Amino acid sequence: MAEPEEPSGPPRAPTGTRDVLWPESARWEWLVALFARRARQSGYGLILTPVLEEARLFRRGVGEGSDVVTKEMYELTDRGGRHLALRPEGTAPVVRAFVQHRPPVPFKAWYVTPAFRYERPQAGRYRQHHQLGAEAIGSDDPDLDVEVIALAAGFYGELGLAQVELSVNSMGCGGDRAAYLGALRAFLYEHASELCDEHRERYGQSPLRVLDCKRAACRAVTENAPRMVDYLDEACAAHFVRVRAGLEALGIAHRLEPRLVRGLDYYTRTTFEFASAALESAQNAVGGGGRYDGLAEAIGGPPAPGIGFGIGMERLLLACDAEGCQPAPAPVPDVFVIDLTGGEVARDLAEELRRAGLSAERAFDGRSLKAQLRLADRSGARAAVVVGPAELASGKVQVKDLRGERDDRQLSRSAVVVELVSDLQAAPGESP
Ligand code: HAM
Repeated sequence: MAEPEEPSGPPRAPTGTRDVLWPESARWEWLVALFARRARQSGYGLILTPVLEEARLFRRGVGEGSDVVTKEMYELTDRGGRHLALRPEGTAPVVRAFVQHRPPVPFKAWYVTPAFRYERPQAGRYRQHHQLGAEAIGSDDPDLDVEVIALAAGFYGELGLAQVELSVNSMGCGGDRAAYLGALRAFLYEHASELCDEHRERYGQSPLRVLDCKRAACRAVTENAPRMVDYLDEACAAHFVRVRAGLEALGIAHRLEPRLVRGLDYYTRTTFEFASAALESAQNAVGGGGRYDGLAEAIGGPPAPGIGFGIGMERLLLACDAEGCQPAPAPVPDVFVIDLTGGEVARDLAEELRRAGLSAERAFDGRSLKAQLRLADRSGARAAVVVGPAELASGKVQVKDLRGERDDRQLSRSAVVVELVSDLQAAPGESP
């Protein structure tokens, strides 16, 4: 492929990626903090793995039958000639780390990670997106499926999202899958002329992808396609019954979606997706996951069944916007230090206040009193400490109540930290 021309002007974030600046990023902190707390409550610890992996991990793990690997993966050769890929998803790296380190099972881990896919960017679809996810490896107990789904469902609920709907399906595991694929292929052969252009040619190689196709032609055909759930062998059928019973028992509403096959090759048995009815249907999946009982072996490890999910943070925030769910406002500083004497008092006092457990802000660059007062007001701080030349000379500071009615007070410089700590911590949110 020809090298694209060097663009003019200062460098910009690459197409399909975006910067998240403060204060927008406060919403990201909110999501991560809530998710981390929920995950920990269920026994999941944080896992960090490299953003770069050997490309063969994803080829073997996610699979050559998936668009994510064949069309969308960012691959590169490093200066040492190693063939690497930027992770397109979070599961294969966690399973790779499991195989490499063999922690005790079940190994339950959560993550927050960027993921890279060379897709056509549009609202809710980016070349770098971010996922919150959880994986539980080393058990095929259907109650673990229920625990994992409950973790995700509880998270959406805690965010206040009422229009997120859960679909479930089972992909079977071994012989039952082969029998089903035979039946599906035969059905698609009968209807080949009605399929969309892409799948009319390709349905033979990857019949499951036709079930996933969002185009109207394929949707109409697959409405009546054979269903995997009707082909499950006894063990897989019993597994799925137990999963659904568990969801019922926990009051987690869900619906069977026989065409839910998901786009990655590693899925076996339970698959699920959370879609927001408040978003455009093309990009309404706010999370999804499932079992991948053969993945550890596919990448050369021991047998280790597992299940997990990934939640797209950008889409989640779009769903929050659509449903009007907002985080609690970002915390504001307790104290703003206004220094008109050269900045040394602000430097020292702000740090003393922080060491004493309060949050403190200050202005830089020797601003005027008026400018510093305006910044103090805009910061939302509850109190300002003002130090002018007269205060400095007499060892005093002035404390101004920025939110309430209390009169200005003169306090000694040496006592102000203790006074403010007792005022502000005694009555959080109220005026000092
Ligand atoms: P996935 O369905 O490919 O699954 O992605 C998970 C979620 O990431 C999607 O439901 C969506 O919210 C978000 N997402 C995916 N691609 C994009 C994109 N281009 N732009 C914005 N958001 C996107 C996985 O990645 C699996 N690893 C999930 C999993 C974990 N399965 C088992 N364990």
